[in-house]
Amino acid sequence: MNDNKKEIVRLLKESEGSPVSGQEIGEKLGITRAMVWKYIKALRKEGFDIRSSPKTGYILDSSPDRIDPGELKKILQTSLIGKDIRYFSELESTNSTAREIASNVSEGTVVIAETQKKGRGRMGSEWQSIAGGVWLSLILKPAIPLENVSKITLVAGIAVTNTLRNMDISARIKWPNDVLVNGKKICGILTEVSAEVDKVDHVILGIGINANVKLSDLKYEIRKNSTSIVNETGNTVDRTVFLANLLYELEQQYIRFETKQFADIVDEWINLSDTIGREVRVTTPHKLIEGKAVGITERGALVVLDKNKKRQEIIAGNCHYSN
Ligand code: BTN
Repeated sequence: MNDNKKEIVRLLKESEGSPVSGQEIGEKLGITRAMVWKYIKALRKEGFDIRSSPKTGYILDSSPDRIDPGELKKILQTSLIGKDIRYFSELESTNSTAREIASNVSEGTVVIAETQKKGRGRMGSEWQSIAGGVWLSLILKPAIPLENVSKITLVAGIAVTNTLRNMDISARIKWPNDVLVNGKKICGILTEVSAEVDKVDHVILGIGINANVKLSDLKYEIRKNSTSIVNETGNTVDRTVFLANLLYELEQQYIRFETKQFADIVDEWINLSDTIGREVRVTTPHKLIEGKAVGITERGALVVLDKNKKRQEIIAGNCHYSN
């Protein structure tokens, strides 16, 4: 959006529903009333609902549901995560773009897209990424060995869950990293890593949250196990504010990961978990494990007591609840 349009939206928002005349806008921006009218018409085409009356001026009734990266930068209260924000209307996949730019950007860079054409899920699955969602990838460059990367995924699950719980949404984590509300998936996390033999180069944390996604717009196969913030609360969320809260929470958890005992993080994960204590069936490329989920290890592996009371540790797989 060009600066004049941005400024008009800002002035109309600032007036909180009282009319602002074309003359006043024109004077503030140093443009003619005819130009103001031209920008108003362009803004309406972009989805801004602007009422106009020749006597009183313009009133902004509603704005389109778009993330505002400029506003996000202003309200963000972090020192690392989101200091560099790359915002796109549409991408194939934020994780793919993040991977392309990772070596040339600083740690904490975030890639955000309004929609993804080829959103990717875990284990090669599709991630339907329609308008209204929060689709982002966070680039991290932690000085950790490869085997510790799964810990960062746990940290991300906690951050998303806490952000939702702070909005009174009763989110819980299903191992390994789905965030569920009332048994339905609201968020998925895809962690990708680039590493040399003993050292991580960068980690890409891809986070997809069905914020204002209308469930009826999702494919049946996806819809039947999904929920969204708007579906749970009845209200759409301001995704710019939501992102600011989420990035803040991610930073808090990341600082904690880098500075505190990992056992504390495991304890919090277990407190927020939907999986521990349940009878589960976990499929991996090599085997099927059935039994009771009793904990997770420091590496994020699920611990299952199988039918023979044998302890099994599963580092990656798909988990289904048996009851
Ligand atoms: C899952 O299968 O549960 C993981 C889904 C991860 C989706 C997010 S959306 C943003 C980022 N970009 C992608 O292509 N995938 C992740």
